[in-house]
Amino acid sequence: MKAVGYQKSLPIENPNSLIDFETEKPEPRGRDIRVAVKAVSVNPVDTKVRKRAEHPAGEYKILGYDAAGIVDAVGPDVTQFEPGDEVFYAGAITRQGTNAEFHLVDERIVGAKPKTLSFAETAALPLTSLTAWELLFDRLGVEQGRGEERSLLIIGGAGGVGSVLIQLARKLTGLTVLATASRPESIEWCLDLGAHHVVDHSKPMKEQIEKLKVPPVALITSLTATDKHFPALVDILAPQGAIGLIDDPASLDALPLKSKAASLHWELMFTRSTFQTPDMIRQHDILESVSALIDKKDLKTTLDRVFGKIDAANLKRAHAAIESGRSTGKIVLEGW
Ligand SMILES: NC(=O)c1ccc[n+]([C@@H]2O[C@H](COP(=O)([O-])OP(=O)(O)OC[C@H]3O[C@@H](n4cnc5c(N)ncnc54)[C@H](OP(=O)(O)O)[C@@H]3O)[C@@H](O)[C@H]2O)c1
Repeated sequence: MKAVGYQKSLPIENPNSLIDFETEKPEPRGRDIRVAVKAVSVNPVDTKVRKRAEHPAGEYKILGYDAAGIVDAVGPDVTQFEPGDEVFYAGAITRQGTNAEFHLVDERIVGAKPKTLSFAETAALPLTSLTAWELLFDRLGVEQGRGEERSLLIIGGAGGVGSVLIQLARKLTGLTVLATASRPESIEWCLDLGAHHVVDHSKPMKEQIEKLKVPPVALITSLTATDKHFPALVDILAPQGAIGLIDDPASLDALPLKSKAASLHWELMFTRSTFQTPDMIRQHDILESVSALIDKKDLKTTLDRVFGKIDAANLKRAHAAIESGRSTGKIVLEGW
């Protein structure tokens, strides 16, 4: 089968940073399904792993987490899927990735593809939807339903995760949604997804928020550049509020949260699959919920651009675009 991988961690401009190669089609065991991959999206984690992780000499590491495709074979213990089913998932960071024609994934972290979207539109969704859902409902403990007297501030609203989080918060909760963006097109993108207000993260945010006269900012999700914004976020946060983080600050001083009795929550989308937690199947349930919300038109795809077929040249362009830090929504590759 065709695959794209690398043997050495290299800058994306290097011709060998990602390479087209042929490898054996893998065999599903246990609760694994084998998926014929039709479309993938690229996430910042692809670029971070490419820069830091190598397989043993002579072996290829295959990146790629998000995928949409068709089940091609199932392991002996699989109960939820059968060959021919159309699925989407974000995979596990501990295994070979989805930049391959056929891919193995545990059925407990896979959902049925939305019926109303194409494979490309679907591939944009799983990793960011799981992250946004787990962050909002599992980590920050927000209840679904109306009757909220709080605002949620989303730093990096137009990014992959922010683009789903804006929609979930707006459609499923009564929170007032403030998203941050700094360019005309990213501001427009956040408003189009349902943000009540957009705040410019390149300027002091507290003054902008005070002028909006919104309910207290009791919840903040810092999706990107936490290093830069954290002191300002602690200042903006209402007493007894909560901050949720997903990115990789070099260091973090949590002590300033004490005077506000505020809490700090980490979300990592790969935790459940990495530790094989007893509630790992929750990712199947979340993806099924996302699929149903899409088909009811309560959520929409966050696909922004399709970069062509899945090969090293197009994946390099996608990695470079992600590394620029200026994406809106998701970049997808489709077909082989
Ligand atoms: N823990 C997890 O499970 C998990 C899951 C997914 C992602 N992540 C991590 O979360 C981070 C965000 O992921 P993503 O996919 O949403 O990223 P992304 O799509 O690459 O984010 C791009 C957005 O970031 C905004 N941005 C750039 N510089 C900023 C700054 N200084 N302050 C605020 N916003 C800024 C940009 O907005 P403007 O252009 O408007 O400035 C752009 O729309 C990455 O580090 C990723 O690795 C973690």
